[in-house]
Parts: sequence; structure tokens; C-alpha cells
Amino acid sequence: MIPGKILVTGGCGYIGGHTIVDLVNNGFDVISVDDLSRGSLRMLEGVEAILGRTIKNYKVDLTNLDDTQAVFIENPDIVGIIHFAAYKSVNESVEQPLNYYRNNINSLVNILQCAKDYQVSNVVFSSSCSVYGNADRLPVDEQTPLATAESPYAFTKQIGEVICRDFARQHAGFNIILLRYFNPVGAHPSVQIGELQEKPENLVPVITQTAIGKRESMTVFGDDYDTRDGSCIRDYIHVMDIAQAHTRSLEYLLAGKSREACTVFNLGSGNGVTVLELIKAFEAVSGRKLNHMLGPRRAGDVIAVYADNTKARKLLGWEPRYSLDKMMDTAWRWEQKLQVDEQMRMN
Ligand code: WQD
Repeated sequence: MIPGKILVTGGCGYIGGHTIVDLVNNGFDVISVDDLSRGSLRMLEGVEAILGRTIKNYKVDLTNLDDTQAVFIENPDIVGIIHFAAYKSVNESVEQPLNYYRNNINSLVNILQCAKDYQVSNVVFSSSCSVYGNADRLPVDEQTPLATAESPYAFTKQIGEVICRDFARQHAGFNIILLRYFNPVGAHPSVQIGELQEKPENLVPVITQTAIGKRESMTVFGDDYDTRDGSCIRDYIHVMDIAQAHTRSLEYLLAGKSREACTVFNLGSGNGVTVLELIKAFEAVSGRKLNHMLGPRRAGDVIAVYADNTKARKLLGWEPRYSLDKMMDTAWRWEQKLQVDEQMRMN
């Protein structure tokens, strides 16, 4: 028995695409809504190749309420929503704050408006560990007070969580889960899909592009922090583990297990890894020496953050399966696949 149709916004993006694979593999029917401003149909092609079936994408700007409502009218059998669609670059949000507030907040408000108007009572919201800011105790758990957001992007996630809470409190019968991702990395083991960014800012794609020669070198942003080796600490988590948590969240909601109208979960491995340690792990897995240099700190960087993921393990039955080496292995194999695809396109 198929547990029902899920609407995935941002389904042509990195985490959205990997989540669609896990949802369909667990019996859900899925449609995607993605305006392709950040996502790409290439992601969907890879998802369809893995699944052996097509996935419909509605090319809709979610800040347009009429166009968003039209998707719900055409799909009255939607039982749950996963809302990924948002701009997510920390740097870009500093340069274009209004774009980030308009896009990330208006799209969420429209999605919740449609959930209410078309009685879709199960919603999963894509949040981020960046809501914690520079927490004064580690690891962070879901009760850790939120510090000041370090960027407009992070603030849109803090505001998004408040909007979800107020909505769920006001409208009985709606159940919302907020998922705070730590640092999603890696690619589906088949390497049919992975992170597609021409000029990435995130550490792992910068490393793999440097290792494959797309970039001359990479810079470690600061080695003078108060950490064990001076570089920042993050909690890296494989994108397929993040995907699995979304499936578990929907199963939890659809089974009526949610005891709160709005529940938050940390999605991290629970392990803090420094930038220099991650580079060493990559070099060991790839067998490549990484051309990197030590440079100045990057504005807005949190010094250290990693998760206490007990609540998601206990309540969602979620278990991260991929080790750091596996994260590096799939990220590296994906970068090599991109190079082969590019060479084939040029021939
Ligand atoms: C990780 C570490 C950098 C690049 C952000 C968002 C978060 C999520 C993931 C959306 C930092 C260092 C990086 C480089 C480096 N976004 N680094 N050289 O900033 O932890 O998280 O992206 O979901 O919400 O906040 O990720 O990969 O950019 O940086 O030294 O060329 O790697 O300084 O310490 P970040 P990141």
C-alpha cells in the first residue's frame, strides 16, 4: 500500500533530489515543485535513472501564490509536504538580504497557506544548524538556545521556524517537523546524482574540484581558532542520511506519532570534525594530495558546531549510516563522474 503522495519543493536540488530517491524507495509517490533557479533538471534525470521511473516537476515560483495553489488543485491527493526550496548561500545572503527574505519567507508562507487551504496536515520544514549561531555549549541539542544568526540566510531559517510554530499552534490538526541539517555532503552511492554547483563555496565540493584540477588550490579559512588544530569544527553528515531522516519524519507524522504540533530534530552525525581533519580524510580516501593553503578567517563563520542527535535516533528511528570516509569516497567519485560526463559532452 503506497503511503501516499508527497509534494517536495526544491525537488531538483541537492538534498531534495536525494530525498525523492529515498521516499520512492520507501513506497511514497512524489511530485516536485522547483522553479529551477537553483536546482536543475539534470538532478531529476539522475533521480529518474536511479528509480527507473519519471518524477513530475512543476516549474513554479513558490512566491507566486496563484501558481502554487494550482499545483495543489491539480493534486488533491497530497498527504504531506517537504519544503526544501530556499536560497542557501551564506555569502550570497549577506550580499542580497532582500532577495533572501523575499524568496525564503514568502515561499514558506505560501506553502503553509496552501497546506491550510487544501488540508495537507503534515509538513516537514528544511531548517539548518546555522540557527544555533555560535552556541556556548557543545554538542548542541534541540533545547540549546539559539544565538544571534550569523547571516541573513541563517536568520531566514530562524524566522521560518517561528512561522511554522505559530502556524501549527494556531491551526489544530496540523503537524510540522523542523529538521536542522548540519553539513550535508557526499553523493548517492551510484553517483548518478550529487551536488551540482559550478562555483561552490562549501568545503567538500571545493576540495573535490581542487583535487580533480578544476581549481588550482583551496584555502583553509583560518587556522587560529580556539580548536584542537586551529581550524573550524563542523558536523558533516551524508546527504543520503539526511534523505532517510525525511522519510522517517513523514512516516512518523503519517502514523500519528507526533505528540507536539511542531517538533524540531537535529540531523547531524554527532561528530565534530575540523577542516584540516576533513582534508586529511579526503587525501587518505582519494589517494590525492590536496593543494591547500592556510588563509584568513571567513566572515560569518561559526567556530564550532556539532549535533547531539539523540532525539532523532530515539523518536524517528533514524540512524546515520555513512562514515566520514564514505562521505569523502562518494563526493570524490561524483566529482570524477562529472569530469567524465564533461569530457563526453565535449567529444
Ligand atoms: C565549512 C567549513 C569554512 C570553504 C553553510 C551553511 C549551512 C549549510 C552548509 C545550507 C567552514 C571552511 C569552506 C573553503 C574553508 N547550508 N571552508 N575553505 O559555512 O559550515 O555551512 O553551508 O544548508 O547552513 O551555514 O559550510 O562548507 O561553507 O564551510 O576553509 O574553501 O569549511 O570556513 O569552517 P558552513 P562550508
